Amino acid sequence: MSDAAPSAGRDGQDAPLHDRLHRPLHDLRLSVIEACNFRCPYCMPAGEVPDDYGFDAATRLSFDEIETLVRAFTRLGMRKLRLTGGEPLLRRDLPALVARLSRVDGIEDIALTTNGVLLPRHATALRQAGLGRVTISLDALDPALFHAMSGGRGEVADVLAGIEAARAAGFPVIKLNCVVQRGVNEHQVLPLVERFRDSGMVLRFIEYMDVGTCNHWRREGVVPSAELRDLIHARWPLRPLDPRYRGEVADRYGFADGRGEIGFVSSVTSPFCGDCHRARVSADGRLYTCLFAGDGSDLRPALARGESALAGQVASIWRERGDRYSEIRGQAAGSRRHVEMFLVGG
Ligand code: GTP
Ligand code: 5AD
Ligand code: SF4
Ligand code: SF4
Repeated sequence: MSDAAPSAGRDGQDAPLHDRLHRPLHDLRLSVIEACNFRCPYCMPAGEVPDDYGFDAATRLSFDEIETLVRAFTRLGMRKLRLTGGEPLLRRDLPALVARLSRVDGIEDIALTTNGVLLPRHATALRQAGLGRVTISLDALDPALFHAMSGGRGEVADVLAGIEAARAAGFPVIKLNCVVQRGVNEHQVLPLVERFRDSGMVLRFIEYMDVGTCNHWRREGVVPSAELRDLIHARWPLRPLDPRYRGEVADRYGFADGRGEIGFVSSVTSPFCGDCHRARVSADGRLYTCLFAGDGSDLRPALARGESALAGQVASIWRERGDRYSEIRGQAAGSRRHVEMFLVGG
């Protein structure tokens, strides 16, 4: 390495970087934009985040800055990159950014989490640019309910067209995320499983989380994954599958008849902080060491000084990291101010 930058975890040259709970920095979830064309009430309720909220493209890291940032993270051991938003497909020229990031040495996996409506326009270009995987949010099949769950902005037919576009573009792994809320879309679970269980795509049910503060989360809204697993198992028997990698967020289950797999993300009833190796960076360049962090660290000054300076700053923050919010949920006294979901992309 040509300078004195921390190169922890890289090629065995230095001691690997770990946080205080001995967790490496393996994944980066990078938001490319904080704006969204939906207003899902569990993330970005229209009443709290109106159209004139003040989103400002000028605050976003440029593609040059993002590439430098990603290079700095790979020096620290980051291998897996996920682009998020808001809605990442609203970021102009996203395929050009993907093409640049897919060429960064050390990146083994680039994925994207999207609401899917713009995929018919961009899926092929993204695939050609080197995007490896897409994950598409889909909370309901019922058109009226879907519309309501998007905050009155989206049509389920458009998301289904987006899913087809991703398929046609040749993405080998397509995952579908459904956030389940009690009394809202529980009844969509079986229809969703029925529709996608033989599709080669992986449907995952996500417990409604207390991310952000503007969704006014209440525990009563959470449907425990165990309940859904039993519901699905009664209709289509399931068997547990091993995680694909250590610290995988979703618990995997296969259908006993061999017709695919589903997953459950159970951050509320079964936290997975012990293996959490994910850093998050917002579109304006702040580092959050937990999805539930109140504050992030501004990376821009170090970023302006270059890759080495940035790697140094991130390494020192990561070494001090002790986050395990989901494991201690409810114990923390006082305020529960959390960064908003649309700023860090989940
Ligand atoms: P892969 O395993 O790489 O496919 O990705 P993923 O499942 O981690 O990513 P995705 O964006 O699909 O996230 C699925 C759900 O898990 C979302 O609701 C995320 O907010 C949630 N999630 C992802 N990482 C974490 C985490 O570190 N903590 C918590 N509490 N939730 C997370
Ligand atoms: N709880 C659980 N998942 C959420 N997501 C957004 N807000 C919440 C919430 N409050 C999901 C989105 C997307 C993923 C990145 O996070 O639906 O699939
Ligand atoms: Fe937009 Fe995704 Fe948030 Fe819905 S969950 S408002 S699609 S960023
Ligand atoms: Fe990681 Fe925080 Fe999620 Fe725990 S709650 S798994 S520490 S992001």
